Amino acid sequence: MIYYFIFGPSYKQIIERYTGLTGKPIIPPAWALGFSQCRGLLTNESLTREIAGEFRKRQIPCDIIYQDIGWTEHLQDFEWRKSNYTDPQRMLKDLDKQGFKVIVSQDPVISRQNARQWKEADSLGFFATDVRNGGSYDMPWPWGGNCGVVDFTKPGVDAWWGKYQQKAIADGVRGFWTDMGEPAWSNEESTDRLFMKHHLGMHNEIHNVYGLTWDKVVTEQFEKHNPGKRVFQMTRAAFAGMQRYTFGWSGDSGDGNDVLNGWDKLAGQVPLALSAGMGLIPFWTTDISGYCGDIHDHEAMAELYIRWMQFGVFNPLSRAHHEGNNAAEPWTFGPTAEKLCREAINLKYKLHPYIYSYARNAWDTGLPLMRALLLEYPDDTETYKADGEFLIGKELLVAPVVEKEAVTKEIYLPQGEWIDYNNGKTIYRGRQWITYPAPLNVVPVFVKRGSIIPTMPVMQYIGQVENYPVIFEVFPASEGRTATFELYEDDGESNDYKQNICRWTKVKCTTTAESWTINLVRENENGYKSDLSRNEGFRVYLEKCPSSVVFNKVKSKKTNPEKLESSWYENSENTTWSWDEPKGICTIKFAGPGNENEIVINQ
Ligand code: NOJ
Repeated sequence: MIYYFIFGPSYKQIIERYTGLTGKPIIPPAWALGFSQCRGLLTNESLTREIAGEFRKRQIPCDIIYQDIGWTEHLQDFEWRKSNYTDPQRMLKDLDKQGFKVIVSQDPVISRQNARQWKEADSLGFFATDVRNGGSYDMPWPWGGNCGVVDFTKPGVDAWWGKYQQKAIADGVRGFWTDMGEPAWSNEESTDRLFMKHHLGMHNEIHNVYGLTWDKVVTEQFEKHNPGKRVFQMTRAAFAGMQRYTFGWSGDSGDGNDVLNGWDKLAGQVPLALSAGMGLIPFWTTDISGYCGDIHDHEAMAELYIRWMQFGVFNPLSRAHHEGNNAAEPWTFGPTAEKLCREAINLKYKLHPYIYSYARNAWDTGLPLMRALLLEYPDDTETYKADGEFLIGKELLVAPVVEKEAVTKEIYLPQGEWIDYNNGKTIYRGRQWITYPAPLNVVPVFVKRGSIIPTMPVMQYIGQVENYPVIFEVFPASEGRTATFELYEDDGESNDYKQNICRWTKVKCTTTAESWTINLVRENENGYKSDLSRNEGFRVYLEKCPSSVVFNKVKSKKTNPEKLESSWYENSENTTWSWDEPKGICTIKFAGPGNENEIVINQ
């Protein structure tokens, strides 16, 4: 056992040094930060196609459809179950055309029922062995009968596993969900597994690190077979360093005995998310709906589902998932749930440029996207108590409601001034607890005064529209101060970010007694190529209509808000602006390619 003592003193410094020790967290593909859908028996072509079609028909954004473990014929041959899929390659192509990516589950075992592959692994010595008889260890597995446990510490296993998993990728699958990597088994309380021997040691020595040895193989083999491509891998069995290979989810939550009683479990997911982030699992998700327990009455479950969704959309990865054949799609919980979930998911997509910038920040610093308040405000001991809320990056504070029938939430606002993001107007002073009204249709979200939030129009999936406008929401700082943000962009799919091939757009807004001056400076790094024939814009939250807007020294034309809003995709060299009196928003639209722009908004 080796102990490392890491001195901060601040927790942020501890994370940074811990990152230096155990590695940087990889960035997920851009689409992985969209919404995703799963269920235990989402393991056949017709249901998959049906669910995908419903998302598009109902205009609820979604990027990923998962296939749970039953997709495969046998553990773990990576063959599509013939009785469930007529033409899996065609299905994947069709889904791709609709903008869906498919992620499949894999378990780290080979079933005895899969005689050919079991014998292959057995003869190659790729299984953990049983010290009592020297043969391959026979592990009871919750499905697929007894299994051999693949020993990922054994030389040669990596290439062997890599060839198998690549079959799915070659078919059009986009990544893996590595499940049961503890490794789980069907009789958890039994200690029989201690007779298991791995190449690197007895199971008691390997147990904690087993999942990591598997994650490493999955990612390294993915990268070997798909050079330059960004890996997607999500796992629940982890160890220090997992962030180099995989993303995390919290596993089976919810109340298995009474699914309607899962409120405490939902509440527990919030501090869990914060702990994950502080332990260097910045890309994390919960199972929206809670996973455990049969849902006999979807209507009765709607409130819990909605609240879980309103929290889950602020997880970097967001996935609705429930066990068995229990539907966990937003529309199955009734029209109110469908509407409120659409709104919550829409917000996730709108914020994608902001969230993606913080994904890059996680790579640079190890800092999580969902931050416990104490990370940003370590000197304010009141933040230590605030474990039911979090910051997304630095600028947004989210306080999800996780209590049944609650219509208010007690929220701590740290230092500064906090603007209600739901109306862009109400300002709360910081360093106080507030009771915020939060009926079912309200998710408490605040933005710090003096912030800039890059957004995009809602799309049904990431990349649906090329050259979409990036719109910076500006919540100006008080007089004499400046708000800043650095928007990060890259190709979203490759590992070029590791060579820093990307674009930074640095935006700052300075408030004076007479005006707000916004400067935008763009830098493409290391030959990053992309054509920037898009519009860009600012939505500046102000108290009254400005007298004029001057773009690069030229006075801009004022138009009405409706006209401006309908022209985001139109080509025009002219800069226009509008004033929306009820909302208090000055919107400015301009053609984006300039690398240096100055916008002056005069009072
Ligand atoms: C356990 C996982 O935690 C769960 O999410 C999954 O649905 C089942 N295994 C079946 O693969």
